[in-house]
Amino acid sequence: MKSDSLSRRSTLKLLGSGLAAGSLPVAALQTPAASPPAPAESPAVLADRARRMKWWHEARFGMFIHWGLYSVAGRHEWVMENEAIPVAEYEQLAKRFNPRPNAARDWARLAKRAGMKYMVMTTKHHEGFCLFDTKTTAYCAPKQAAGRDLVKEYVEAARAEGLRVGFYYSLMDWHHPDGARCEKDEAARRRFVDYVHAQLRELLTQYGKIDILWYDVSWPLEAEGWESKKMNEMVFALQPDIIVNNRNKLPGDFTTPEQRIEAAEEGRAWEACMTMNGSWGYQAADDDWKTPKQVVRNLISCARDGGNYLLNIGPKPDGSIPEESVKILESVGAWTAKNGDAIYAVDRCQPRRSNYATFTRKGTTLYMHLHFWPGSEAVIGGFLVPVKAARLLASGQKVAFTQDPLRVRFTGLPAAAPDQPVTTLAIECASEPKQDQYVTRRDRKREQV
Ligand code: GLC
Repeated sequence: MKSDSLSRRSTLKLLGSGLAAGSLPVAALQTPAASPPAPAESPAVLADRARRMKWWHEARFGMFIHWGLYSVAGRHEWVMENEAIPVAEYEQLAKRFNPRPNAARDWARLAKRAGMKYMVMTTKHHEGFCLFDTKTTAYCAPKQAAGRDLVKEYVEAARAEGLRVGFYYSLMDWHHPDGARCEKDEAARRRFVDYVHAQLRELLTQYGKIDILWYDVSWPLEAEGWESKKMNEMVFALQPDIIVNNRNKLPGDFTTPEQRIEAAEEGRAWEACMTMNGSWGYQAADDDWKTPKQVVRNLISCARDGGNYLLNIGPKPDGSIPEESVKILESVGAWTAKNGDAIYAVDRCQPRRSNYATFTRKGTTLYMHLHFWPGSEAVIGGFLVPVKAARLLASGQKVAFTQDPLRVRFTGLPAAAPDQPVTTLAIECASEPKQDQYVTRRDRKREQV
């Protein structure tokens, strides 16, 4: 079947179910992987990007917040499309969405305790309901039951905790009458694109300095139809320090692998976004929670390869955070509080071969993150650089080691892991830590291997 012969609803259902199942190549539909390669950028453009993104690269860990009318239904943020709910029926949810004041303060405090450095909140998801004050539609929180600007509350809450502020904004809109027909009807496209650009202008003028603009799903238009170049130009004219992602069909400043960790090529920034269970929006019965260990391991893997980790919460309709998410983030926070040196502002790290550890690096310090405690001894094979000293990162306790041309062994470790969910060794090296991951086997004399 040709993709343009799919109906809007079947296309969207496909997208939605693919997201839920994590199986379809959704990313291909919304990231520049499907777009032509970006033209080479000038040194001035690259320098400006480096300036704008410095804080972001150091930050490594952010909180994603998916919140909207779908939280009232409590069956995932795609409930409108996946259950084919008519617009007029779905709109009724706006009468029941009246969160308690300043719920965002709890999100921001939790983000801070978890060791997150920035937040990105859905200002408008695919359902089309705006959490911000807008002149463009009455379908927004201040003009419905909530009676106030929820984006303003969020921005103030994030700033109060010293966290950077990001806005997620879905280009795709299931509520706007032109949101689908804009693909084939030029007058509809003109109206809809004006609507979207006007909303972005409001978002970037009403709340002071905004640090990130996180576009999402560009269906059914391409960059030309969205006027994405003009869109980004407006964004940067209004917010010269902002960074933007790649989901308006332009490369933007960073790539956005979804529900997976996949480094971009060297020199290109990337951020893996993930749910904590299987849903972005609140889904009451979704109990498919990640463990704190999985979250910490994911954060480490992102940091190792120079990426960021954007981890989602889906607040309930009253704004409270699902209890399980709180528990997970509290555990993660206890770990980052003691092991943050191994995460924030780290450099890309080459060593990666181990069955029980993952590595990160800052300068000449290698961090060995032991997620399966090996017992009294931990070993790195093929280690190429002299080790000068080693210690347990959280306690500072010295760790003994021996090194020969094949491996370095850390010895005299306690029988049980001293830290949960991961114990980290800080290993001071004579130069940038490097591991021979491929060649040692060839050079070793070992029969039967
Ligand atoms: C997908 C989904 C959406 C979610 C987003 C987060 O695009 O459609 O529900 O907000 O991923 O990356």
